[in-house]
Amino acid sequence: MSALFQPFKLKDVTLRNRIAVPPMCMYSADDGLINDWHQVHLAALARGGAGLVVVEATAVAPEGRITPGCAGIWNDKLAQAFVPVVKAIKAAGAVPGIQIGHAGRKASSNRPWEGDDHIADSDPRGWQTIAPSAIAFGANLPKQPKAMTLEDIARVRNDFVAAARRARDAGFEWLELHFAHGYLGQSFFSTHSNQRHDQYGGSLENRSRFLLETLAAVREVWPENLPLTARFGVIEFDGRDEETLTESIELTRRFKATGLDLLSVSIGFSTPDANIPWGPAFMGPIAQRVREETGIPVASAWGFGTPELAEKAVAEGQLDLVLVGKAHLANPHWAYYAARELGIDRPSWTLPAPYAHWLERY
Ligand SMILES: Cc1cc2nc3c(=O)[nH]c(=O)nc-3n(C[C@H](O)[C@H](O)[C@H](O)COP(=O)(O)O)c2cc1C
Repeated sequence: MSALFQPFKLKDVTLRNRIAVPPMCMYSADDGLINDWHQVHLAALARGGAGLVVVEATAVAPEGRITPGCAGIWNDKLAQAFVPVVKAIKAAGAVPGIQIGHAGRKASSNRPWEGDDHIADSDPRGWQTIAPSAIAFGANLPKQPKAMTLEDIARVRNDFVAAARRARDAGFEWLELHFAHGYLGQSFFSTHSNQRHDQYGGSLENRSRFLLETLAAVREVWPENLPLTARFGVIEFDGRDEETLTESIELTRRFKATGLDLLSVSIGFSTPDANIPWGPAFMGPIAQRVREETGIPVASAWGFGTPELAEKAVAEGQLDLVLVGKAHLANPHWAYYAARELGIDRPSWTLPAPYAHWLERY
């Protein structure tokens, strides 16, 4: 009996299996507005059999986009464009999720295949970035952000709330706050990017404040019966890993007490000087530690796109949900492929009937 193909219930939402498509930016929107590309892409992934499909990092404010091509949800017109996407994901039997975020000091960048660096200050396509402190990321992202005032902090928190409300009204059933990968939320937590001397910087409590306040404010508008989750980088691989992990676990306990339903355990990416031990499923033991020490359900990504590894991660209690990213770009029917590889009975029925009927081997 496969662990990967067991349903997963969180609040009033039941995923048909433990396979999730994590948020993946397509860098293909115009002024935040998604289009046919996103519709076809996301519908195809949902038809492929995953239990959950999470829409890419979607900016809560224009200056929170990573690139000019990033999706946004800072007004009702942008939010309306997600309605057919939500319908298509649900029609395919998957649960529609969305990641909302703000890129902070990593915003105003070129698309990955157009340089993956900051847009030059002289280029009108770029914009002023904001962050907890006026410290640039460095390396390919040298632009110095403006340090946020208390008014800026309150405004962005409200932007998250408004985005959550719009996501709810568009029909999403799973919300993920993007607090990872060196973007705004993560950069409040990390001392690499936060050198503030007020109530938002310094101690663990102060560096956690923006994240916890944002979570609490979003919880007010996000329906109590639907999963509210966050992606957070619990470790930087910068040589201070035990300290960061201990702090991250404490923050996760506070997330849970504030109403978080699941943590997507990821990497901080707060410094270009990290030494990340890339390898198959390498985040598994770290996610398991967060799960065991906090009691919160966890998901994780990074190299779980082999059916045996994904199965093992769930069967051995490392993960509640397995995030399969690039393997889904290579094969949108990854869940069907995994079902076949794992010897699931009638694997074709991970796909919709117009496909499954012809592939059924029995
Ligand atoms: C094209 C692409 C876009 C991505 N965009 C996002 C994003 O919007 N938000 C996010 O949290 N992670 C993003 N990621 C990271 C993925 O969610 C995932 O963690 C990563 O691909 C590792 O998983 P994998 O080894 O299964 O691909 C992106 C990754 C890729 C390849």
